[in-house]
Amino acid sequence: MSEQRVAVITGGASGIGRQVSLKFARKGDRVVVADYNEAAGQETVDMIKKEGGEAAFVQVDVSKQESVEALVDKAVELYGRIDVMHNNAGIGGAGPVLEQNMDLYHRTINVNQHGVAYGIIAAGRKMKELGIKGVIINTASVFGFLASPGTFAYHATKGAVIMMSKSAALELAPYGIRVVAVAPGAVDTPIIQGYKDSGMLDSMRAKVMGGELTQPEVVADTVYLVSLDEAAAITGSVVMADQGYAS
Ligand code: NAI
Repeated sequence: MSEQRVAVITGGASGIGRQVSLKFARKGDRVVVADYNEAAGQETVDMIKKEGGEAAFVQVDVSKQESVEALVDKAVELYGRIDVMHNNAGIGGAGPVLEQNMDLYHRTINVNQHGVAYGIIAAGRKMKELGIKGVIINTASVFGFLASPGTFAYHATKGAVIMMSKSAALELAPYGIRVVAVAPGAVDTPIIQGYKDSGMLDSMRAKVMGGELTQPEVVADTVYLVSLDEAAAITGSVVMADQGYAS
């Protein structure tokens, strides 16, 4: 692709999303860092600019469809196109099934599942309208396949992300738009620190090959690889970035 790409990264204020934003910018793409945390999102933008990259912050609440649509519109208004949409924002949604806090349950579904659906729909429509053969990348998880106690709602959302990615990939293929799920295992970010008190963090660490949490930079490398035109065969696929996470 000769033209400079535009990548929109939700959850770009922290963890995996921040590293993905930095990675794309370092490779010469223009980045829209999207998050509801404005201060931290702006910090990501400042980091990119300090390195000589091009980025802008747009505040979004991915659990609201109109907010995600406004994000995609804003990206096109700022940079004229959208080539990569990374639907990555997410929350931990921890809590055992029989003691489920239903507010947290619904919030987890709204952010992790509906948020990804809104991103697929808004970016897919815009890419189709502009005739852009782009790529939509959705952050899933090994928890979309493997059950673990205490994360009932989270499992539901990550299973949904995987099947939404496959289903959308089928329908968007005729327009040359790819849809891919990237599934990390246990990554060293703030979200996973929420599992510390329950002992889950230690048990997750033990399941990663090498016994250390995956660094978010490494997941960002995978997301970037999947975004390239050379990854044309990767669509409707789940790409594991899990360092061999075992059940
Ligand atoms: P993080 O907590 O560092 O980053 C999540 C970001 O999403 C934060 O900046 C937060 O402000 C933002 N966010 C949350 N709700 C939002 C909303 N409604 N609208 C806009 N932004 C919102 O966590 P991390 O680990 O970087 O998570 C990124 C993605 O990776 C999530 O989807 C998570 O489920 C997934 N994941 C993380 C793993 C891990 O071990 N850390 C493993 C597998 C998947």
